[in-house]
Amino acid sequence: MANPSESIDLRSDTVTLPSPAMRQAMAGAPVGDDQFGEDPSVNRLQERVAELLGKEAALWMASGTMANQVALRVLTRPGDDVIVSRECHAVWHETGGSAANAGVQFTEIGNRGVFSVDEFLAALRPRGHILYPPTTLVEIENTHNRAGGVIVPQELIRRLCSEARKRGVATYLDGARLWNVAVATGRSLSDLSAPFDLVSVALSKGLGAPGGSLLAGSRDLITSAVRHRRMLGGAMRQVGILAAAGLYALDHNLNRLTEDHDNARIIAQRLAQSQRIILDPDKVQTNILVFALADTAPDAATVVTKARDRGVLIFAFGARTIRAVTHLDVTRAQCERAAEILVGIVDGNS
Ligand SMILES: Cc1ncc(COP(=O)(O)O)c(C=O)c1O
Repeated sequence: MANPSESIDLRSDTVTLPSPAMRQAMAGAPVGDDQFGEDPSVNRLQERVAELLGKEAALWMASGTMANQVALRVLTRPGDDVIVSRECHAVWHETGGSAANAGVQFTEIGNRGVFSVDEFLAALRPRGHILYPPTTLVEIENTHNRAGGVIVPQELIRRLCSEARKRGVATYLDGARLWNVAVATGRSLSDLSAPFDLVSVALSKGLGAPGGSLLAGSRDLITSAVRHRRMLGGAMRQVGILAAAGLYALDHNLNRLTEDHDNARIIAQRLAQSQRIILDPDKVQTNILVFALADTAPDAATVVTKARDRGVLIFAFGARTIRAVTHLDVTRAQCERAAEILVGIVDGNS
């Protein structure tokens, strides 16, 4: 097996390590007790992210999962129905937390991370019906992880949120990778966030910080989020050490995300040359690529194991589906090499 420290790790953009400069920013961060609102670094980060997203306030969260869970607690009541895109993070990757913490059920609609206004209206259940669970929230994930870093078109988002608002349905954006949307589309983060009541963004993915997400919205909603964060055990103390990494990441790692998108496309173009890999490189919009293995190819578990032995780490999403993610700790040359190795394995040449 290849030495893991020399591996080309494409499992996720969460595997990045804080750089020496980021660590220095963390070591020198002014800190205080964040539960008393006295951590200057957290306060700076919250103010900065609120401003970037065009919201009144933002709140530090331990993780993207916690941001999603708190958003559900703030915007729904137990027994409510939440309309989401198919295979969204809240349904697939949070170990059932939404049922346990918020007591909600989900209706998954659409395809490849996107759903239409008609699909939304058809899935919506009214309040006050003697049988139906009321739809009180619509959640959009942008970019969409399991769909392969897909960007949800902003005009569609505006129409969906406007239809939701007319019907008293709240709106939430799981924007863990909203930075990637902004960089890929040239739209501002505040434009992308404007249609939503609450928006979350993550520092620990493409931005390369070791942890943390922020939840942003109106002052009233964020006041409610402070309570729910505490209830879930997520209120922290001198967390400015992590917030400083987030501030550093916003200064240094945001605009470079285009490199990750370019590298993902380079990998996709090479993979698509294999007859045994099902992937349309034109559909790779950001830093995530999800590809399927044709019947003639080995299955995902075999490809993942062989790739690991050759120093490439990837993630099996299903029996015949694999995800690869580019990030700031893999170079273009490494991405080219990884693609070559993967094609060799799938085509049976290595
Ligand atoms: C779209 C999306 N939302 C939320 C999360 C959760 O983030 P965390 O791992 O920080 O809990 C992830 C993690 O990959 C994600 O992809």
